[in-house]
Amino acid sequence: MVLFRTRTRPGRRAGRAAEGAATALDRRLPLMEAGRSLLRKAFPDHWSFLLGEIALYSFAILVLTGVFLTFFFHPSMTETVYRGAYTPLRGVRLSEAYASTLHISFDVRGGLLIRQVHHWAALLFLASIGVHLLRIFFTGAFRRPRELNWTIGVTLLLLALLEGFAGYSLPDDLLSGTGLRTAQGFVLAVPVAGTYLSFLLFGGEYPGHEIIPRLYAAHVLLLPGLLVALVTAHLVLVVRLKHTQWAARGATGRNVLGKPLFPQYAAKSAGFFFAVFGVLALLSAVAQVNPVFAYGPYRADQVSTDAQPDWYMGFLEGAIRLMPGAETRLWGHTVSWNPLLPAVVLPGVLFLLLYAYPFFERWVTGDTGEHHLADRPRNQPVRTGIGVAALSWYTVLLLAGGQDVLAYTLHVSVDALNRFLRVCFLVVPPAAFWLARRAALALQAHDRELLEEGEEAGFVRQEVQGAYEGSHRRIGADRAYVLMARRLPRPLPAPPGGAAAPRRARLRSALSAWYTGDRVEMPATDAQRRRIAALTAGPARGTGGADGVDDER
Ligand code: HEM
Repeated sequence: MVLFRTRTRPGRRAGRAAEGAATALDRRLPLMEAGRSLLRKAFPDHWSFLLGEIALYSFAILVLTGVFLTFFFHPSMTETVYRGAYTPLRGVRLSEAYASTLHISFDVRGGLLIRQVHHWAALLFLASIGVHLLRIFFTGAFRRPRELNWTIGVTLLLLALLEGFAGYSLPDDLLSGTGLRTAQGFVLAVPVAGTYLSFLLFGGEYPGHEIIPRLYAAHVLLLPGLLVALVTAHLVLVVRLKHTQWAARGATGRNVLGKPLFPQYAAKSAGFFFAVFGVLALLSAVAQVNPVFAYGPYRADQVSTDAQPDWYMGFLEGAIRLMPGAETRLWGHTVSWNPLLPAVVLPGVLFLLLYAYPFFERWVTGDTGEHHLADRPRNQPVRTGIGVAALSWYTVLLLAGGQDVLAYTLHVSVDALNRFLRVCFLVVPPAAFWLARRAALALQAHDRELLEEGEEAGFVRQEVQGAYEGSHRRIGADRAYVLMARRLPRPLPAPPGGAAAPRRARLRSALSAWYTGDRVEMPATDAQRRRIAALTAGPARGTGGADGVDDER
């Protein structure tokens, strides 16, 4: 009894103190009110919604491991003689940046593992951003009201690419120095301003002493700062606009059906964070990545064979390797088409297209309504075709980025492989577009068949006369709802005046017919169509609902 009293009293006092502090704080900041509705937010449950979380968690791991590395890394190009534990390089003259990377790898306890986790996390960060972007694209989650979040997302991708490049350039090893030299080539290729830009960036002649400290400031301060700010804005918008969800019975364009943020979603998310961390730690322990000590220090007169950038820069490398070398003298300036076209124009166009896509689709379809239900990719054959074509084009470039390794592995000549990949660069994307569009329409036809005839029941009936007949059973109402709940734009009407109409209006009408014309109609009565239109329509602004279901967005 005595024991009981001595243990509870301080506890009760602490509880009362905490309650008092919370009340006092809440009177000054309306935290409870805001917190309560935030903790109640519904998050729909689907594996594809975890891709953004992988990006988020790998970014958090990058920051954690990066902070550790900053304690030991020296961003300096000053030459020194290596005297550390790695015997093959002892006595070799190298930069302090490289020497400190060797120091982290061989003298700092756990240093090599943290370097490995940092590098693997960077590879995963960019991969998860890429796959997350594909999910958003193929399900149409970029449409109104999420265009701004798409724009922020594309900027995050751009910043992440720069962050990765700045990071792997820091150790000043043979591979990263080669990458920096390549990057300087891109800068020099900019017509008229290239030489000035290169001097500005490198603080004089290449490589100079400035580039590593500058890249370091960008890598640990500027780019992470921008990334943190934009990721925060991105997530605030996800919470504010709420998440898209897959059509299902009960999930409509006006509600969100899912687990509340607290405790279910938070617990699941925390578990997922540790799973991502665990996989990265395992990979880092068993699979060596970027062994800079094996490459040696950077020397401008040396390049190793099979030098490859990190995978996310592979498409640029591939574009450079595919482009034939060509130069033109114009007004006293030399224009080097390679690397100008593949390394400056191509990424510029790629990002412009990414930024513009939601606005282009809205213009072409005339669809200005809010969309909160994720599209099944098959229901948007042209968008799906465009996405698959872009993916196939990216794959060709990625393969071209490693064409020397491929040629060596496959025992073919690099020239022959290059010619083949050049043809692929032109032929594969249109072929992929055509195939994906046909496949999407075929899948729609299959959905229609399921609705009309049901699914195969798995047995056949033989008539007395000997004929066979397959048997079907009706699909359930839940599945039928998923197949029928779609809201597709119709082609825009032809502009008044026909051929005399402004060219822009005629172009828009033709594009709209091409973009929205492909569809297999689902068998539905007029009443069913009206019901589907009502369920998939966007919200009328209102209030939230119970835990796990937000009734109005
Ligand atoms: C640092 C990179 C990024 C991080 C950490 C991140 C994180 C997230 C998270 C956690 C979500 C909610 C869960 C999900 O839908 O997956 C989300 C949603 C979203 N993200 Fe990202 N994202 C990043 C990059 C991008 C990119 C590159 C794009 C597109 C270009 C993008 C566009 C969107 C959109 C439109 C949503 C709302 C999706 C919906 O409501 O269905 N994000 N992001």
